[in-house]
Amino acid sequence: MSARPPEELRSHQWYGTDGLRSFSHRARTRQLGYLPEEHLGKPVVAVLNTWSDINPCHVHLRDRAQAVKRGVWQAGGFPLEFPVSTLSETFQKPTPMLYRNMLAMETEELLRSYPVDGAVLLGGCDKSTPALLMGAASVDLPAVFVPAGPMLPGHWRNEVLGSGTDMWKYWDDKRAGLIGDAEMAELENGLARSPGTCMTMGTASTLTAAAEALGVTLPGASSVPAVDSGHDRMAAASGRRIVELVHRDLKLSRILTRDAYEDAVATVLALGGSTNAVIHLIAMAGRSQVPLALDDFDRIARTVPVLANLRPGGQYLMEDFHFAGGLPAFLARLTDVLHLDRPTVAHDSLREQLAGARVHNPEVIRPRSKPLAEEGGVAVLRGNLCPDGAVIKHIAAEPHLLRHTGPAVVFDDYRTMQRTINDPSLGITADTVLVLRNAGPKGGPGMPEYGMLPIPDHLLKEGVRDMVRISDARMSGTSYGTCVLHVAPESYVGGPLALVRSGDAITLDVAARSLRLDVPDEELERRRAEWSPPPAKYERGYGALYSEQITQADTGCDFAFLSRPGEVPDPYAG
Ligand code: FES
Ligand code: MG
Repeated sequence: MSARPPEELRSHQWYGTDGLRSFSHRARTRQLGYLPEEHLGKPVVAVLNTWSDINPCHVHLRDRAQAVKRGVWQAGGFPLEFPVSTLSETFQKPTPMLYRNMLAMETEELLRSYPVDGAVLLGGCDKSTPALLMGAASVDLPAVFVPAGPMLPGHWRNEVLGSGTDMWKYWDDKRAGLIGDAEMAELENGLARSPGTCMTMGTASTLTAAAEALGVTLPGASSVPAVDSGHDRMAAASGRRIVELVHRDLKLSRILTRDAYEDAVATVLALGGSTNAVIHLIAMAGRSQVPLALDDFDRIARTVPVLANLRPGGQYLMEDFHFAGGLPAFLARLTDVLHLDRPTVAHDSLREQLAGARVHNPEVIRPRSKPLAEEGGVAVLRGNLCPDGAVIKHIAAEPHLLRHTGPAVVFDDYRTMQRTINDPSLGITADTVLVLRNAGPKGGPGMPEYGMLPIPDHLLKEGVRDMVRISDARMSGTSYGTCVLHVAPESYVGGPLALVRSGDAITLDVAARSLRLDVPDEELERRRAEWSPPPAKYERGYGALYSEQITQADTGCDFAFLSRPGEVPDPYAG
């Protein structure tokens, strides 16, 4: 590795110049307990850590940061750990999606305002991955992402349990009277057995796989189980690597190109991954000033099959995927659709990175001749109910519902839906199309994961397990069913979803990529004239800023002032 001259490092402005400020910074670094020879002239590496006591998916990251620092020291860098906001999918209400952009802002501003030459980003629970990468992309320093890693497979009696998916399944079984409190208490102990992110191909695994496909992690990093010793080794190797990247001045913008984003989309679709990735990848690409639209997902979906046999769509869990070869082996099955000449943080080209990757279990990572589905896992719908698009994970739906016309039963908000879904006077049958509104980016706010609306109890008892459901909400990556999501524009801002009335016929036709409200235009115009915007949900605070700045689902739900192009002055210029 050829070292960059110290005066070329960004941190040199803080430490290496003649003025009073550099003197003060050096004196304060002595105060921190470091000798001059331990840090002067070395790349300063910020280790951004989303660890917290409340976040079970990241609770091991306090230790992992030590491994990263070990790697940085060994390679001749100077590591400094920064605690940043933790986004716990489980505990943060109303939804961590409300705070994705806040962590992105924090990431960007920390990296910019401190003497940082490169960054290692530690995260993985759902929104943490896009948030950290959005912020880092906006600053455009060299960076390596360290995925938190999946937790161990769940167990109950003789069953292997998957995060989320099995929680919903057994909750429905309890509601249907098939199991009781004793079984639920046992399940509580078995669903999540170790630190780490959800071990299905839910949102966390989808986004960490996307990060690896983008080329911002070490090869294979996204599936290393959180508590495996290999996770420590991967963290240390990431620390070593970032020092090299700083010396080579390999900035994120060299990695996060249009080709890389297209490959991440192909990866997510071939994994049968979470619909949340659609929003996050569009937002991340926006920060890289790379155009990426909903239609790119639909176009690429038609070119890739689903090859990962992972829950919730398939059978296996992330640990199986890891030992089947992980993402390098998976991507090696897709080389005809990938851009192999682009660089990654680990190799000069993706081609080099994938050389030698082998599938060790063709049941988990299927060959092209035996896909789980012929086309990628997400379809983009258009029609008079969603002029700016909507998405459906059709591979997680019951096939007979993929073309369906039924009468709507409309719920104005989630609480009303919860309270009344079992009310017999609503006349809900298996053919009903359940509609939930005011659950979008502004209306939710934060697009909570309400999109898998519950099946009413009386239908569950009759054995109905899927219905057509439509909302401007998102859905957990571990959910399933015929759920049309991300309807844009959302109802809260007057999108057509606001105009639906119970009894209106709605037609979903996934093959035709269409979602239609079968109501004449004149009637919709009349209803629109009667519609008035709901009052603002937040009068002050972060929520008010969020409501003012949030963009719609089809453009990634970033803040308008963060996603627009433009220059930000270097902090040392001012
Ligand atoms: Fe954190 Fe699923 S709850 S990854
Ligand atoms: Mg989730």
